[in-house]
Amino acid sequence: LPHGQLGNRLCRYKNYNFLSSYTTAEYIDSLQSFEIRDSDVFLVSYPKSGTIWAQQIITSIYELDGHVNEYFINSQKMPWLEYTGGEYTRRPSPRLFTSHLPQVLMPPGLMDKKGKIVYLMRNPKDNMVSYYHFSNSFADLETPQTSSWFDHVREWYSNRDQYNILFLTYEEMILDLKGSVKKICNFLGKDLTEAAISQVVEKAKFENMKNDSKANYEHLPPEQFSGKFLRKGQIGDWKNTLTVAQSERVDQVLWEKLGDLPLRFIWE
Ligand code: A3P
Repeated sequence: LPHGQLGNRLCRYKNYNFLSSYTTAEYIDSLQSFEIRDSDVFLVSYPKSGTIWAQQIITSIYELDGHVNEYFINSQKMPWLEYTGGEYTRRPSPRLFTSHLPQVLMPPGLMDKKGKIVYLMRNPKDNMVSYYHFSNSFADLETPQTSSWFDHVREWYSNRDQYNILFLTYEEMILDLKGSVKKICNFLGKDLTEAAISQVVEKAKFENMKNDSKANYEHLPPEQFSGKFLRKGQIGDWKNTLTVAQSERVDQVLWEKLGDLPLRFIWE
């Protein structure tokens, strides 16, 4: 989480804040010895990059052969690694996890290209706008003062050679959902028929997902979250929100922080 004021709703581990209602510093620390299986699949992203969208795609893929139970909600099918409460060692392989953890806090067992990571990113202006709306309707979050988006992307991207990792962007998912599903299948070694791919694509469409109670996160209690995870679902909403000066400031920080990396983002 971005560094906000630390109330009793947040706990801290090595400069990072976590929601106390979901985890503890001790648990985050224990992930350093979390045993990775080579079959493990992790979806990793900075919050508001389209995580639950990719989560819907990946869980749908593993539902086709019955590996994932379709009667569970997505956060049970593919739980957040950093939250306590999962009996992860008992899960059958391949285990599916979701995570917002920065690279330094992920289980080191993933290095040497063990397991598989799908790393999702979104252009920082839309990511910021989405986060702004999210933090306004999520009771436990302060309005972020700074953003660790740049560090998250930088650390994961610059350490990519140590991981078996697929980089995917929110924008390419918007522009070519079917192509993105195929890319994910390819990476996960899943050889799906055209009909199966269409089924996954259909379930991942904005309107369908918005009405899918297993996927839309509307199970969160309203006193905790009063907004919508599926809000606008577009590229370029930042143009309706950021001033020209704010947009230029993001351009400048992006250049300073990530300008040396071969990352290019789609803005509209
Ligand atoms: P907006 O707030 O810009 O609408 P995360 O899952 O990481 O919290 O990201 C949430 C963002 O992903 C929201 O962005 C949400 O609308 C978008 N999103 C979720 N599912 C989507 C889908 N099926 N198609 C397009 N965008 C989707």
